[in-house]
Amino acid sequence: MANTRVAHPCLHGKIMDAEGAAALIRPGTAVGMSGFTGAGYPKAVPQALARRIEMAHAAGDPFSLKVWTGASTGPELDGALARARGIDFRAPYNSDPVVRDQINRGELDYCDIHLSEVAPMTLQGFFGPLDTALIEVTAIRADGALVPSSSVGNNQTWLDQARQVIVEVNCWQAREMEGMHDIWCCDALPPNRQPIPLVRADDRIGSPTFRCDPGKIVAVVETDSPDRNQAFRKPDETSHTIAGHILEFLGHEVRQGRLPASLLPLQSGVGNIANAVLTGLITGPFEGMTAFTEVIQDGMVDLLDSGKLRMASSTAFSLSPDYAHRLNAEMARYRDRIVLRPQEISNHPELIRRLGCIAMNGLIEADIYGNVNSTHIMGSRMQNGIGGSGDFARNAWISIFMSPSLAKGGAISTIVPMVSHVDHIDQDVQVLVTEQGLADLRGLSPKQRARLIIQRCAHPTFRPMLEDYFDRACHGAYGFHSPSLPGEALSWHQRFIDTGTMKPALA
Ligand code: COA
Repeated sequence: MANTRVAHPCLHGKIMDAEGAAALIRPGTAVGMSGFTGAGYPKAVPQALARRIEMAHAAGDPFSLKVWTGASTGPELDGALARARGIDFRAPYNSDPVVRDQINRGELDYCDIHLSEVAPMTLQGFFGPLDTALIEVTAIRADGALVPSSSVGNNQTWLDQARQVIVEVNCWQAREMEGMHDIWCCDALPPNRQPIPLVRADDRIGSPTFRCDPGKIVAVVETDSPDRNQAFRKPDETSHTIAGHILEFLGHEVRQGRLPASLLPLQSGVGNIANAVLTGLITGPFEGMTAFTEVIQDGMVDLLDSGKLRMASSTAFSLSPDYAHRLNAEMARYRDRIVLRPQEISNHPELIRRLGCIAMNGLIEADIYGNVNSTHIMGSRMQNGIGGSGDFARNAWISIFMSPSLAKGGAISTIVPMVSHVDHIDQDVQVLVTEQGLADLRGLSPKQRARLIIQRCAHPTFRPMLEDYFDRACHGAYGFHSPSLPGEALSWHQRFIDTGTMKPALA
């Protein structure tokens, strides 16, 4: 057999092209696909499926699918299927612009949930039956075991639950990745669940491969295609300043004896600021760090290379093209220092609380009391989704949220009187950071929090407006525990919708 990546003899006869595999997917059904933060998603079959859907639509036949994944994928999956108008339901996280537009035009139902809860909710049947699992792997071993790819996500759950399985074997993924993964799923429902036997970020508790009955595999498609691998923006001055505040804070916590010198396992969210914080840690004083997170970005690879980060546990990579290339070439060197797990484990509240993670996530806006909106622009337009931020923020040892104090060229204050949508309640937001400064909110009452957030985090352009609002609320509110003026609290958002800026017109 020319392709050495498909070693199981019974599956040679199932090798076919993407069109053949796409033809096996029935209209109107649910497809559980691999893919998490643009890594390890199937690339050929979704595009063939999109062509098939376009042809069906041209012939006047309806054809759409329910698409479940680990998290965000790439243009060959979400983009292609959405352009073909082939998705009617999407879960649990998306960052594709075409899908985002369709969600925000109300054309597509989107179920945005905590990433750790997708597998248990699937097992309980809330999403309905799963017809097809479409999973990218690195290889199929002679014993039939599937060697995972650059993300694990919900793949084992999809493989277990689906009626039929289609596998893409992507030889672009480094073969040396075998051994990096740790597949352990909690498929017993309460009260029969056992504690997850993981007590350190580097523990390995499961198997390096997925299990799947070869009899369920109806197609194997060979591919050679890179992951999405978007380049990160070079950290700008704002990101560096935010990173600096966080590093100073972590140093302070070590000096206070609240954190060990090697810190606690780091969780770092998506985006450029998170990447800048990781890069900043390279020159920081902390040694022997670990990460228990859901995504490995460039900054974390640099941190591993620097020797300051001992190991990283995650469910996926999300790398720029240069870093993906380098990692692919040197995968064997990283294999023992990176563990990729199912997202139910990488994001499990039980483990996040047990390990005492330091969670660092981005936000869209925060209010003066520290409630955080991570998902909805102006209260109604979906940006990406909550992703794993809720899994980590609620359960972390320290929960940090970070953002520039301004958005859209200064037209928007990210610190507002009241958030237009709540993803993280004030109790789950312990530290708030902008380039203006850091507010440590632990142990403070709502009014104390408000004063500190306005003083430390708000941009000087909007700070006097916030002070004025808070002052008037403190004198004229219905109650004085978390004083607010409901009729005015969201007027900043309305002003932006009406005029394109939160700044009031000059009298
Ligand atoms: N009002 C309106 N728009 C805002 C805004 C606000 N308060 N704050 C940010 N935006 C816009 C930005 O202008 C940008 O728009 P553009 O794409 O049109 O340029 C977009 O939102 C993204 O903002 P950006 O500054 O690039 O932020 P980011 O890359 O740091 O991402 C989140 C910030 C909140 C969108 C991102 O962290 C996220 O999706 N979080 C939820 C999921 C998560 O936290 N996962 C963590 C576990 S991995």
